[in-house]
Parts: sequence; C-alpha cells; structure tokens
Amino acid sequence: MPLIDLVLLKARLGELAGRFDVDALDECDSTSSELMRRADRGAPAGSVVVADRQSAGRGRRGRQWLSAPEASLTFSLLWRFTGPLSRLSGLSLAVGVALARGLESLGAQGVGLKWPNDVLLDQDGRQAKLAGVLVELASDRRGTQAIIGIGLNLLPPAEELPFPAAGLSQACYRLPERHAVLAALLCELAETLERFAGDGFGGLKADWQQRHVWQGQQVQLLDEAASPVLGTCLGADDDGALLLETAAGVERILAGDVSLRPAGSTLGGRPA
Ligand code: ATP
Ligand code: BTN
Repeated sequence: MPLIDLVLLKARLGELAGRFDVDALDECDSTSSELMRRADRGAPAGSVVVADRQSAGRGRRGRQWLSAPEASLTFSLLWRFTGPLSRLSGLSLAVGVALARGLESLGAQGVGLKWPNDVLLDQDGRQAKLAGVLVELASDRRGTQAIIGIGLNLLPPAEELPFPAAGLSQACYRLPERHAVLAALLCELAETLERFAGDGFGGLKADWQQRHVWQGQQVQLLDEAASPVLGTCLGADDDGALLLETAAGVERILAGDVSLRPAGSTLGGRPA
C-alpha cells in the first residue's frame, strides 16, 4: 500500500480535487519518467504520479535525486500550455514560487528560492536545500507539455550531499502530515500555473524576488565550458533569466548548464 491514500488526498484537495488525476505508486524508476510515458499515451493535464520510492530519481543534467519513503515526498505533475516553448522559460521559477507559498501555508518559516530550480531553507544563515524542481518540456503544433517533477525532503536526508540539505520538519513547529503537504502544494501549483499561463513569469517576479536568497549578493556562476564568472545578483527578469552584474556589464543568464554558488564558496564544486 503506497503511503499516499487517494481518498484522504481527495478530501484534502477539496474543491480542487477535480483538477487532478492522481496515481500513487509504491515504486517506480522516476515519477517524471513514468508520467512522461503516460503523457505520450495521452494522459490528461493535471495528471499526477506520486511514488514512495524511486529507483532512478533524477535532478538536472542526469544528476541523482535521493529519497527515502518515510523521509520524502516525490511526485510529478503534467501541465499543458498553449503557445510556443519560448514563453515557458520562467516556468521552474514559477513552480518555486508555488512551492514556497504552499510550504508557507503549512506554517514553514525561512523558505527561500535559488535560481533556477531550488527551494532552500535558511538555517541560522546557512542555506540548505529543501526541495528541487525538474521541469521537462516537449512541444508540438498544439502547444507545450510540461512534466513538473518535485522532490521535497520531509526529513533531512541521511546521506552526505555536495550542498547542505534540510527537511520540512526543520522549517515547521511540527511536521505536517504528508497528505496535507501534497494537497497544499498541488493547490498552489494549480493557481500559480494558471497565473503563469496568463501573465507569464512577470506577474510572479516580485513574489520570486522577495524570496530570492542571494538578491543583491555576490555570487559565482559556474559553467563547465568556461571560467567561473563573478557578479552581483540583481534578480530575475520577466523571462526568468538571471540578471548578473559583472565586470563586463549586466549579463542575462538563461537557465541551462550553469550553477550558481555564493562568491568564495566551494560548496557543490563545479557542475558535474
Ligand atoms: P545547481 O546549482 O547546478 O542547480 P544543484 O545542487 O541544485 O545545483 P541540481 O542538478 O539542480 O543541482 O540538483 C541535483 C542535486 O541535488 C544533486 O547534485 C544532489 O547533490 C542533490 N540532491 C540529491 N538528492 C537530494 C536531496 N534529497 N536533498 C537535497 N539535495 C539533493
Ligand atoms: C533538482 O534539484 O535537480 C531537481 C530534483 C527533482 C527531483 C524530483 S523527485 C520527483 C521527480 N522525479 C524525478 O526523477 N525527479 C523529480
């Protein structure tokens, strides 16, 4: 029996239950891979796959996402957008805003966002990764399909990781029950994705920037194909690109094969 009980989840989703078609699994390779296969077979927008265990959980660029059934919430959501792929460049930032709002609605404190795809927790000035977002897009004539994969640590991971990691239990007075967490995140995602579809990232930018952990701070941009670039984080623009003030002027960085670290940090090293 999976840890997510669909009857309990439906009750938690309330009037938004009809927007989602949720399947809860004991195990799969990756909820995003599983949902992608289902999307290819015509699964509707709003389909969700949540799994207790992933044998091949993925982060960006094929990195591994580690999870354990009792300690994690791992799920993927299928959403469809009209219009071209280029309108969706800010999507992973928009998802970050939805996650932060959802976690805050559960009483979490100290939640912040790191460009382009991380949800962090402030632990006495040290930032630790609480959740990761993996957005995978595919386009055709009719529009664009997004598989939005989310990995949230309910408890701090036991493994040593290159970047410090945290659990939701450390952000809340008492860890919220997992059905309440999933329902809160799905409800915020539905609302935020609708706003994003209408107004683009521009309408969510202020919300993102307010939680941006390195706003106005010195950072280094790591790119495996080039030397690190030092600059001051000016925030994001309406397309979700990072604005970095460097010695050469303001650079506009679109999410790609780059990683951001605080200036002087060796955390996480160079991109793998
Ligand atoms: P970047 O700045 O490049 O985005 P990142 O550390 O966020 O760096 P991603 O590829 O986005 O890298 O995320 C995957 C990384 O998350 C892996 O390198 C791994 O170290 C880390 N990771 C894996 N599982 C967890 C987890 N449960 N909690 C926190 N971090 C994790
Ligand atoms: C990252 O920080 O790089 C993103 C991590 C995303 C992990 C989630 S867990 C659910 C979904 N299935 C996956 O294989 N990956 C995403």
